[in-house]
Amino acid sequence: MTRLSAITPSGHAHIGNHLGALRRWARDGGPGDLYFVSDLHAMTVSYNPPRLRALTRELLAVLVAEGIDPARLFVQSDLVRELGALSWVLECTCSYGEAARMTQFKAKGGGTGARLGLLTYPVLMAADILLQGADSVPVGDDQTQHVELARVLARRFNSTFGEVFVVPSATTPPTAARVRDLAAPERKMSKSTRDAAGVVFVLDNPDLIRRKLSRAVTDSYDVVAYRPEKQPGVANLLEIYAACVGVSPREVEFRTYGELKTAVADAVIEELRPLREKVIELLADPAELDRIRKDGAERARDRAAHRLDSALRLAGV
Ligand code: ADP
Ligand code: NA
Repeated sequence: MTRLSAITPSGHAHIGNHLGALRRWARDGGPGDLYFVSDLHAMTVSYNPPRLRALTRELLAVLVAEGIDPARLFVQSDLVRELGALSWVLECTCSYGEAARMTQFKAKGGGTGARLGLLTYPVLMAADILLQGADSVPVGDDQTQHVELARVLARRFNSTFGEVFVVPSATTPPTAARVRDLAAPERKMSKSTRDAAGVVFVLDNPDLIRRKLSRAVTDSYDVVAYRPEKQPGVANLLEIYAACVGVSPREVEFRTYGELKTAVADAVIEELRPLREKVIELLADPAELDRIRKDGAERARDRAAHRLDSALRLAGV
C-alpha cells in the first residue's frame, strides 16, 4: 500500500503541524508511504519566490528531522516537468464544471480574478497522486473532494485510453491533536496566519515559545478544566500539553492558568528541542540537504516514469 501525504510551504512549520501530522508520519509510516513538500501548490496564491524557495528547503529539513525516511520524501517541483505533462493530459479530460465546483476554489477567494492555477490545482493534485501510484491519500474534509476528482480522472483515463493509473481513495487520517491559535483559539493554528503571536513554530527558540505561551488567550472562569466549548483557549493548552507528554487532556490537572502556561511551555520546549536542533544542523549543511533532495527526486521520477510514458503514448502524443 502507498499512502501519499504532502505539506505546502505557505509558511513555517508549527507545533500544530508537528503534533497533528508530521510526528505521526515519522512514527506510523509504512514502507510504501510517500511524503512531499508541495511547493507548486503554494504558487496558487500571491507569494514571494525567494521566500518560497527558502520555506521549501526548511520544510524538507523539518521532515527529515522528524525522522521520515529520506527515500520516501521529495519536493514536488523536482517533478515539475513530469507533473506539467500529466496535468495537461488530465486537464484535457476534465470539464470546466468539474474544476469550478471544487469548494476550495471559492473558499480560497476564487472568482474571475483568481489565478487560473487556483482553479486547476486539484488537477495538479490528481497528477501528484496518479504519477506516484498512490492508492490511499489521507486527507482532512477540505481535501476529500480533490481526491474524489483524482479518482474520477483516473477511472476516466483508464476507461477512455487504457489502464495506466491506480484509482486512489481518500482515507481518514488517525485522529490527532487539532491545535488552535494561542491568540485566537476559535481558529486552528496555521502556517499562513499573518500574525504569528499565537503560532508556535518548530524553529522558535525557547524564550520566544515561553513568551507566546505566557500571552496565550484564556478566559475569566479561572478554573483549569477541559471544557472545549466553554473554555477553548484553556482546552487548547491542555490538548497541547497532553499531546506533548502523551496523556489525555482530561487527566491533566493544574491549579492556576499561570501554572498551566508554564507547564505547557516546558513541555513544548522539550518536545521541539531535538527537532529544532536537527533542523538547524541540516540547514547548516546545504550539501547534505541537497544530496537528500536530489536522491528523493530521482526516486520519485523513477516511480513516475513508466506511468507518464504510458499515459502520453495512450493519449496519442
Ligand atoms: P497549515 O494550515 O498550517 O498551512 P497544512 O494545511 O499545510 O497546514 O497541513 C499540513 C498538515 O498539518 C496536515 O496533515 C494538517 O492536518 C496538519 N495540520 C495543520 N494545521 C494543524 C493544526 N493546527 N493542528 C493539527 N494539525 C494540523
Ligand atoms: Na495553510
